[in-house]
Amino acid sequence: MLLLLLVLLAVLLPGGDNQEASPGPTSFHIIQISAFANSTWTKHCGSGWLGDLQIHGWDSDTGTAIFLKPWSKGNLSDVEVAEMDNIFQCYYFGFTREVQEHIFDFQFKYQSIGGCELQSGGAIVSSWKGAVGGLDFLSINTTCWPAPGPSSSRAEKVCEIFAKYKGIFDTVEHLLYETCPRFLLSVLEAGKVDLQRQVKPKTWLSSGPSPEPGHVLLVCHVSGFYPKPVWMMWMRGQQEQQGTQQGDFLPNADGTWNLRTTLEVAAGEAAGLACRVKHSSLGGQDLVLYWGRSIPIGLVILAITVPALIFLLGLVLWFWRRR
Ligand SMILES: *[C@@H]1O[C@H](CO)[C@@H](O)[C@H](O)[C@H]1NC(C)=O
Ligand SMILES: *[C@@H]1O[C@H](CO)[C@@H](O)[C@H](O)[C@H]1NC(C)=O
Ligand SMILES: *[C@@H]1O[C@H](CO)[C@@H](O)[C@H](O)[C@H]1NC(C)=O
Repeated sequence: MLLLLLVLLAVLLPGGDNQEASPGPTSFHIIQISAFANSTWTKHCGSGWLGDLQIHGWDSDTGTAIFLKPWSKGNLSDVEVAEMDNIFQCYYFGFTREVQEHIFDFQFKYQSIGGCELQSGGAIVSSWKGAVGGLDFLSINTTCWPAPGPSSSRAEKVCEIFAKYKGIFDTVEHLLYETCPRFLLSVLEAGKVDLQRQVKPKTWLSSGPSPEPGHVLLVCHVSGFYPKPVWMMWMRGQQEQQGTQQGDFLPNADGTWNLRTTLEVAAGEAAGLACRVKHSSLGGQDLVLYWGRSIPIGLVILAITVPALIFLLGLVLWFWRRR
């Protein structure tokens, strides 16, 4: 019976068993954001991202990459880094000039994202897409592909401009299908200690400003954890509270994250609520913070053992008196 109960408990209690260790980032992408205000004013931003972690910046004045982590170069040599800077300088210069010469009739924002991603099977898939005003515009691999849609004729024109540059597609092909996969693997390896670290969250509860009279806002804080995926929920027993509101992920300078979830309840209903937190750093052991009630485990043990001892003592006394 006890065994059966234990098995049932193991099945019914939500443990951290469905929380697998986070695999960490698997992709590298370069993001370009270019704003063209008129025929002379333009501003470019460039950045390099490993998953959702920025590892490269771009100094548009000097046209050089900024390495934000000690391991951001992967295993690229300084010569290769200089070559890459060169390629991107040519690209930005040519891109700006062509846009200003040919497309001066509208103000616009161009965004492109290009890079490669490691699939679960081990294959690496590369892509490069451009968007104008947030809408797909073109994609580039071994050639330029205008995206279907209202601006496809304009995209065709841009693709024609690209085609004028001799060797541009050889360069893009080389970057996408050779440099990127090699760099991705090497930077994942170089940054391993940082990327696969597990930092446990600090947690606490507080009450926020009461939104309406007679109500209380319960706030559950989870701070300084890594990696980013985390699960937080206000619970009553095993019941997830649907009114749980999750805030925004806020970054710390050391790359860890902060998050808070809130729940608004009538003041009388706060007792018995708990904030449950799942995170890969917790080794499958969920954190549970009880609102307004913290029974130390020692007290629980005492509460069970003292009556048991008294009962045993009574039993011994009873036997002793009968003899
Ligand atoms: C181009 O746009 C910039 C930024 O909006 C502005 O400061 C500049 O005066 C404009 N130049 C011309 C020639 O319109
Ligand atoms: C290039 O992109 C086009 C359009 O997205 C796609 O049909 C084609 O298979 C891609 N080629 C390669 C080599 O990835
Ligand atoms: C860099 O790392 C990649 C991927 O691990 C590897 O294929 C390549 O040979 C390395 N290059 C050098 C110069 O070590």
